Order: sequence, then structure tokens, then C-alpha cells
Amino acid sequence: MKFEDEIKRRRTFAIISHPDAGKTTLTEKLLLFGGAIHVAGAVKSNKIKKTATSDFMEIEKQRGISVATSVMGFDYDGYKVNILDTPGHEDFAEDTYRTLTAVDSVIIVIDAAKGVETQTRKLMEVCRMRNTPVIVFINKLDRPGRDPFDLLDEIEKELKIGVRPLAWPMGSGTDFKGVYNIYEQSLYLFTPGKQKLEDGIEFRDINDPELIQHIGDRAASTLREELEIIEGVYPEFDHNAYLAGQLAPVFFGSALNNFGVRELLHAFLKLAPWPGKSVTAERTVDSFETTFSGFVFKIHANMDPNHRNRLAFVKVCSGHFERNTNYLHVRLGRQMKFSSPTAFMADKKSIIDEAFPGDIIGITDSGNFKIGDSLSEGEILNFKGLPSFSPELFRYIENADPMKSKQLAKGIEQLMDEGVAQLFVNQFNGRKIIGTVGSLQFEVIQYRLLHEYGASCRYEPINLYKACWIRSNDKKELDEFKKRKSQYMAKDKSGRDVFLAESSYMLQMAQEGFPKIEFFFTSEF
Ligand code: G4P
Repeated sequence: MKFEDEIKRRRTFAIISHPDAGKTTLTEKLLLFGGAIHVAGAVKSNKIKKTATSDFMEIEKQRGISVATSVMGFDYDGYKVNILDTPGHEDFAEDTYRTLTAVDSVIIVIDAAKGVETQTRKLMEVCRMRNTPVIVFINKLDRPGRDPFDLLDEIEKELKIGVRPLAWPMGSGTDFKGVYNIYEQSLYLFTPGKQKLEDGIEFRDINDPELIQHIGDRAASTLREELEIIEGVYPEFDHNAYLAGQLAPVFFGSALNNFGVRELLHAFLKLAPWPGKSVTAERTVDSFETTFSGFVFKIHANMDPNHRNRLAFVKVCSGHFERNTNYLHVRLGRQMKFSSPTAFMADKKSIIDEAFPGDIIGITDSGNFKIGDSLSEGEILNFKGLPSFSPELFRYIENADPMKSKQLAKGIEQLMDEGVAQLFVNQFNGRKIIGTVGSLQFEVIQYRLLHEYGASCRYEPINLYKACWIRSNDKKELDEFKKRKSQYMAKDKSGRDVFLAESSYMLQMAQEGFPKIEFFFTSEF
């Protein structure tokens, strides 16, 4: 197959949702279609239940599951589909944000009864930052749900994106009769509990009297009326607006009943983009360029403490990746070759000889990689879009075993490279501060330091509201600020200046008092 065709047949995406909307169920059904798995239940939900906060086995299990299901690839109808899994638990949101930098589009699952929820909103903000194309799947139509027009309005308003239904439900809950696929002009009838897929009934003309025979008089006239409203209210589906991340096509169905999933997959394959351009600090990289480039968006530590090796996940952005070939590790300025790069097919991992843009490869790493690192054939490229977010929770981290200070330092460094949390060093008193987005991370760090590095840590409270990166063109004002706020100045792990604000009032005062200083809430600016 030609290089260009290899790229054009690839669809690399993530399914995102608020917990419980049906992400795992939908993923599983898609994998069943792809023949990547053969029985339902093969994909374990990687949810950590709220109650598991102190259940370390649960955390370990989660890490095990999440490596197995990090990337799920399969071939379907000539396409190569790569689904990137994202952790459901909000404490791992940053992991999700980073994974979203490696996808070319997303499917957002929304519960028809609940509508837009907190996590949906947050995840959509990340998609919007990168103009990621979004398809919406409204799920659980077999249960009583909200009015579809209300849902569309809510999505438009809350997610700040235009919507265009490409399918339309007929009733919901016990009245749910099926979905009319506007995109294919076909009617799909729903039979509760029936998992066998029915073919759609083609209805090019919705006014065809035969419609009544399928769904009855009342449902037929409601459908006709509603479709008329849709055509009146929503402009024709604009594919370019979708590709630009401005318009979300909307589908309806029930993942659990495998209803509407095949139609979603078919539309997704046709509409969703193949790997496109990636922005680096130096220039924009096009996937069709023939020289290889890629970046690390995720690092997974080995579950087995006897083997310290980690797995770095690399997204191929351009060119042809080959096994046992020398590539430049840009940050280290060093040539490296990889003898056993792996690809992921649902729950299996296998060694591959080559990979193309859009593919995710797993590279065994003994500590050379950090999140955000680039590989190339020699060009200096630093991929953008992998910021650290200003953390929400902070604690001092102290050594609890003086005999193991080296192990502790190494452990902290490696866990930070993996992106588990962020480390700041207070420049006034030299104390180390761990910043996270969720409280679970503190426990994960403590547990992993002990079990993987043999080091013990202790946390002490610190009263902080926000850590933000600062910058100014006015060196005098910057120096003055750092002097005046010396107690609150820290360095992040790349040595950049960070201001630690104790309260929103203190932050506001700082901003007002030093107008020439810019304050940033993500590390990339
Ligand atoms: P998540 O990954 O987004 O968190 O959601 P997940 O797929 O785990 O689904 C959450 C719950 O919603 C599950 O039930 C699942 O069976 C159910 N569900 C998913 N799709 C549909 C649907 O189309 N209709 C209905 N009625 N339910 C659906 P659970 O009881 O929490 O879990 P389980 O014990 O059944 O796995």
C-alpha cells in the first residue's frame, strides 16, 4: 500500500465522557465490530470507584488495566482504527488531557437522561483548545431520556459548539422505537434486548406512507414534524466546520443494546479526519512528510517492581517508523534505536516492524523519556500541546527514611517524568512541593515510592490556592516581583519561575500590583 493511503486509512481517536455515560460500553461494542474482541465484557472498565480512594490494590489493578487498554487498534472495512483510552476518574484528568493531544478526533458520549455533565464540559474545553473535531453520541435511548431538542440546545450552549443531528430518535425509554439516520436516510427499528443487528430500512422520502407500517401513525407524524424542524433550524451539515472543531454531528443510540453503534462507526469512519498536522515550537509538521517524527504523550511504569523498565507511548506524527533504525531523541541529542517497539490490538501487544502516522507505538524505556519528548530523523522538533496544568492541590513532601534519600529523589523524579504530579521547589526554604489535580495522586505517589523505589515519604500541609507560571519582558519589574515575593517563589522541574499564591485575593493583588508580569495557568505559553 502507498504511504499516503496508509495515512488516509487511519483514524486515531478517543471516546470521552462523564463517568457512567457509557464510554466503556461503547468502546467494547466498537471493538466487537472490529473483531478485536469476541465476547462482551472483555474490556474492563478502568473506573476507580470513589470508595477505592485508599484501596491500593485497586490503584494497582487500575494501572494494570489501563496499560492493557491504553490503545486499542483494529482493522475495519479497510480502515485502521486506533482508540486511545482515557482514565474515567477525574483525579486522573491530566492523563486524559495529555492523551487528547495524541488523537485526531473524539467521540463524546452523553447520557440522554443526564445531558451535559461536569467532566464532559472540562474535556470539551481541552478539545476546543486544539480545535479537535467532535462527534456526539447520545446514549441510553432505551431509558427514559430528555427531549432531544433540549439536549441539542444544552450541548450547544454548555459545550460551546455548533450541533447538527445526523440521526434522530423516535421516542425514548419504553416508547423508544428506533432511530432515523438522516445521514444515510435509513430507518433503524429498535427491539429491546435484541442484540442481533438489523439492517436499516431505506427511506429516501420520509413522507412515504409505508413509514406508518413500521412505526405507527403517531410516531410517523411526530418524526416527520421533527425532521422538518431540524431541516428548518439546522443548516446542512458542513463537513469543514466539523473538521475545524466548530460543529459536532450528533448521533443517538444505546451502546448497551448495540443500537446505533454500527451507524455511528460507519459515519465516524467517513467523517473523521486522518492524521493531519502537528504543531511544534519550530514549525508545523505534516503527516505526509516522509521523514519520521513523533512524541511521547504517556509513560507507564512497569507493574513488576523487579523490572524498572517503563513503557513510553509514542504518537507517530509523520513519516515511516521502522524497528532497529536510529532516531534522534531530541531533548537528549542522542541517537537511539528500538529493537522491540510494540503495537496494541485490544488486549494484546505485539512487536511491530513499522508504523505510520496516527499509530501509537510502545517503546521500552529505562528512564530516558519524559512526557513531551520528541523523536525524529535528525531535525530538532519540539511538539507543542502537552502543557502541565496549574495544580489544584498541594502538599510538602518530606523524606520519612533518612537512609533512603537517594531512592526518594530518584523516585520523585521518575514519577514526575511520568506526569503523575508536578514538583515545585520553593526557592526561599528549599522545600519540595507536590502539586496534583486530585487527592488520589498523593496516595499513588506514596504507595509507588515505597513499592517501586523502597523510599518513604511523608506529606505536610501547605496552604496554597494556585501555582502559576510567570513571565515578563520587563526584567526590572520581574526582578522586583521575585524579590518582593521571594517567600512565594518556586521553580518547576524545568527550572521555570512559578508563583505560589496562597489565596485568590493574593493572586489578584499580585496581578494588579505588577501589571507588566503575565501569569499563566498552563505551562505552555
Ligand atoms: P463509563 O465507561 O462512561 O463510565 O460507562 P459504562 O460504559 O461503564 O456504563 C455505565 C453504566 O451504564 C453501566 O451500567 C452500563 O451497563 C450502562 N449503560 C451503558 N450504555 C447503556 C445503554 O445504552 N442503556 C442502558 N440502559 N444502560 C447503559 P452499570 O450498572 O453501572 O455497570 P455494569 O455493572 O452493568 O457494568
